[in-house]
Amino acid sequence: MTSTSPVQPSILIIDDVPENIKILLRILKDDYELHYATSGRQALSLLAKVKKPDLILLDVMMPEMDGYELCATLKQDPETGAIPVIFITAKLDAESETQALSSGAVDFIHKPINGEVVRARVRLHLKLDQHAKELHIVNTELTEWIAILKNRVLKQTALIREKIEASHQQHDRRQNSSDAIVFVLADLLEQRDQRLSKHSRTVASLAVSMAKALDLPWAQVEEIRHAGLLHDIGLIGSSDRLLMDNVELLSGADAANYRAHPIRGQKTIDSFEELKGIGCHIRHHHEAFDGSGFPDGLSGKEITVGGKIIHLASFMENSFVQFPGKDAKYKVSRKVAAGMGVLFDPTLSAAANLALKELLIDPPVTHQSPSEQEIPFSDLRVGMVLTRDLYSINGVLIVERGTRLTTESMENIRRHQLSIPLRTVTYIQKMNSLPHP
Ligand SMILES: [Fe+2]
Repeated sequence: MTSTSPVQPSILIIDDVPENIKILLRILKDDYELHYATSGRQALSLLAKVKKPDLILLDVMMPEMDGYELCATLKQDPETGAIPVIFITAKLDAESETQALSSGAVDFIHKPINGEVVRARVRLHLKLDQHAKELHIVNTELTEWIAILKNRVLKQTALIREKIEASHQQHDRRQNSSDAIVFVLADLLEQRDQRLSKHSRTVASLAVSMAKALDLPWAQVEEIRHAGLLHDIGLIGSSDRLLMDNVELLSGADAANYRAHPIRGQKTIDSFEELKGIGCHIRHHHEAFDGSGFPDGLSGKEITVGGKIIHLASFMENSFVQFPGKDAKYKVSRKVAAGMGVLFDPTLSAAANLALKELLIDPPVTHQSPSEQEIPFSDLRVGMVLTRDLYSINGVLIVERGTRLTTESMENIRRHQLSIPLRTVTYIQKMNSLPHP
């Protein structure tokens, strides 16, 4: 056995020809901790005693137990099954390669041994194995995180449902359930990070403006609103560093974690039967029209309309934060125009311009039209017309602007007040400016 530094990856070389072992030791000795065995049995006995290697280089032709048999034995053992095995072989035919792959090898190095090829293949497979291990850790953490989150949301949703049931009123149970879950998840986002929450509410508002400008059906607009509110739910379990840093500057595990957040978001949302339709929009919200986005590198029509709209809305909101000041809208609209056909679907151009015109980040309550008036919720009555959308404090739409309040819509508001804290005031059309019925 030859040993160098304990922090170096370790490799086990198995070959019955000592000369071949010497060649490989010479090629790899500067970069790796090396062990060797001259038969399959010696290798198995060594593996039972020492720390498991990070990679195995295995000769195919050996007496007693050949490389295929040894590889298959290693793959069946949970202790050694995950160690990548590269065959060293003089055989070049397809049948041998097929036999090697079916026994569990990840690659081949052909004899005569070339130092550069050996170093490159070993480096590549150690890197791939490292990525696979990191991904496994992320997936394990993700599964645990979703279970905890789902449990928490289900508990809170059950409480909300109980309150709704207690009101003894007829209602659309499914709609209320999805609203309640969106509310709870949006609330968790707000608790996790104020900036993320504000970003999500503005994105939802912009996305709804665009969806309406495109004349999408009401149900689809609602899906997009919910997806907009929850599009970054996959970041809720990420570190503060990931939330605070410029994502363009992230690298390594941080970048991989960030790029996986749309997948985490979709998995979280898909675990709620009531929100099934919006998971795909969340997964697609970083996909780009030209295919340069993530996590799936989709392009054009492969991306859902909701995903495209939310991507654009998120870009707009982030750009507004980047360019505060009087000419923000001008700068943002130029950035949006430059991205059309590249990052964004050009068929969204007109809708994006409309949304930009409508965009009111933190709308000033003093900006009232002469025909509207601000009133407390307690003063709402049947027959009044809302001049602004009525949302819960977390952005769930309760009643759409332009709605003339009926007994049913008043009941809807009352029901939500039981379960969801609403803003304390709303806006209605002045009674003297209402058209005659
Ligand atoms: Fe995102």
